[in-house]
Amino acid sequence: MKYLIANWKSHKNIEEIEAWFSIFKLDSQPNKEVIICPSFSSLSQVSTKNNGDKFKLGVQDISPFPAGAYTGAVSALNLKGFGVKYAIVGHSERRRYFHETHQEVANKVALCLENKITPIVCVDDEYITAQAAAIEKIHLKKCIVAYEELGAIGTGHNQPLEHVLKINQVIKANFSDVPVIYGGSVNPTNAKMYLDNTDGVLVGTASLDPQDFMAIIAAS
Ligand code: PGA
Repeated sequence: MKYLIANWKSHKNIEEIEAWFSIFKLDSQPNKEVIICPSFSSLSQVSTKNNGDKFKLGVQDISPFPAGAYTGAVSALNLKGFGVKYAIVGHSERRRYFHETHQEVANKVALCLENKITPIVCVDDEYITAQAAAIEKIHLKKCIVAYEELGAIGTGHNQPLEHVLKINQVIKANFSDVPVIYGGSVNPTNAKMYLDNTDGVLVGTASLDPQDFMAIIAAS
């Protein structure tokens, strides 16, 4: 199975999402899991575009708390009924701008799994071991892990494949034999190299353009 994940971050309003889906066409994709992660506010709109369940719906984050008095947070329970199957957790932008800790990420993993959402845990070289150590042992093997080096994200400086493969071994040693995907300046030109050698790609910038994202899907 190859995972092809679009992370739209805080981009795209109602009109822009309509325009994206007017171009994006997807045939049934055996052995490919196409996952679109819009902002929370667009989940409902994006879910209406999924004729025939061709793609899966994901979120970019989830509250580290259960449902309750946590103003502004979106809990796993809030997502019930939207058909959300995946949640990106611990993205480096969350760690950097929202000061998320390894323990908070671990709490998110637990809440995802409790609610039948598969967590996609993002890690960078330096904290693979620390992040895995914070996650409950029984949860580790239920994660997908995305290797995302900070300097590669949104910069056009994708990581050399050789380094990605080395880090993937470290990830598997810490998390068990989970699917490991690569993220960081993936584009239609370099996607095949990662897709041939890893379990998939997490795509930010290039997923904003439906043609580019379709080309990345076709490369797998
Ligand atoms: P990028 O973002 O493709 O723009 O580098 C990747 C990510 O942050 O997941």
